[in-house]
Amino acid sequence: MHSRKFAERKEKSETKLFQTPKPPNPQTPKIGGTQMSYLPIPHKIESIKSYTPDVKLFRIKSNLNPAPGTFLEVSIPGIGECPLASCSHNKGYIELLTKNAGNVTQAIFNLKKGDTILIRGPHGHGFPLEELKNKNLILIAGGTGIAPITSMINYIEQNKSQFKKIFIYFGFRDEQNILLKERIKKWESVFHLHIGLSNDPNNHDYEKGFINQIIEHHKPSVQDTVALLCGPEIMMDCATKELNFLGIPNSQIYWSLERRMECAFGSCGRCQIQDLYVCKDGPIFQYSKIKSRLDNENSSQA
Ligand SMILES: Cc1cc2nc3c(=O)[nH]c(=O)nc-3n(C[C@H](O)[C@H](O)[C@H](O)COP(=O)(O)OP(=O)(O)OC[C@H]3O[C@@H](n4cnc5c(N)ncnc54)[C@H](O)[C@@H]3O)c2cc1C
Ligand code: FES
Repeated sequence: MHSRKFAERKEKSETKLFQTPKPPNPQTPKIGGTQMSYLPIPHKIESIKSYTPDVKLFRIKSNLNPAPGTFLEVSIPGIGECPLASCSHNKGYIELLTKNAGNVTQAIFNLKKGDTILIRGPHGHGFPLEELKNKNLILIAGGTGIAPITSMINYIEQNKSQFKKIFIYFGFRDEQNILLKERIKKWESVFHLHIGLSNDPNNHDYEKGFINQIIEHHKPSVQDTVALLCGPEIMMDCATKELNFLGIPNSQIYWSLERRMECAFGSCGRCQIQDLYVCKDGPIFQYSKIKSRLDNENSSQA
């Protein structure tokens, strides 16, 4: 009797110790009943396009079809894994707009057409598509922050009747660093699109200035409007202040956050901002929900 109780207790504690992590986003597709997020799946690179010496676009054959704003964990055996946003919303392929920033992204950079890459995901919560219905949208991106915004633009193109006016503001350092130039040209003819170059004083083809200045020059509609931002936090901060000035409250502004990640499903705590996990609760957050947490994070780092 005594030993049975002991065995039961031992079994219970082992179950607790070796509990599998909580399943990720239930919307994540399954393969044969297995949640895909846990499984790195080999994918073939269909094509590669260089935009700048340190940014390339990898087109990869895939049926994952990630929701706009979600991300993928991309790995190279023997090197490591890193989170990358999906830069398209299309059945049949995904695109990764990758900046060569360190170990893993350098290894991705060295891959060639036809090579295999491992991908798990999609992870996280993307843009709040239901809340965006029947709204004017402001899409703001700086640098490779254009990746998740491109995915959102694909979604808008496929569901035009769901949205009112679309205002797009992109910021790049100089003309050489403009990413996805050929797509921007196409979008210019359909949406209200403005580009600002922050450091290209002799360029006469584009407007000069930071994104907040470009928004100030070309004001968007602010009634019934939601803004989606992705890029360096300093850029999102300045743009948000301009949006607030125009009358858009923080509850109608969404930021896409980047933090270092490991598990990508809320288990390791690597990406935590206080009680929130960027991988599981984000990476897209309503700004009113994260503002005070980011302020605390910044003041504790100062
Ligand atoms: C949700 C999400 C989406 C992202 N989408 C894209 C994308 O579409 N395209 C893209 O080029 N990059 C994207 N990133 C950033 C990308 O994950 C990092 O550049 C990458 O992890 C760097 O890994 P590495 O091994 O090459 O560099 P490392 O050798 O690990 O580090 C190089 C430098 O990058 C910094 N760094 C590493 N990881 C991150 C991170 N997660 N966030 C911020 N700084 C980091 C390090 O502090 C270091 O200074 C995204 C990040 C997140 C969290
Ligand atoms: S990356 Fe592990 S908890 Fe977010």
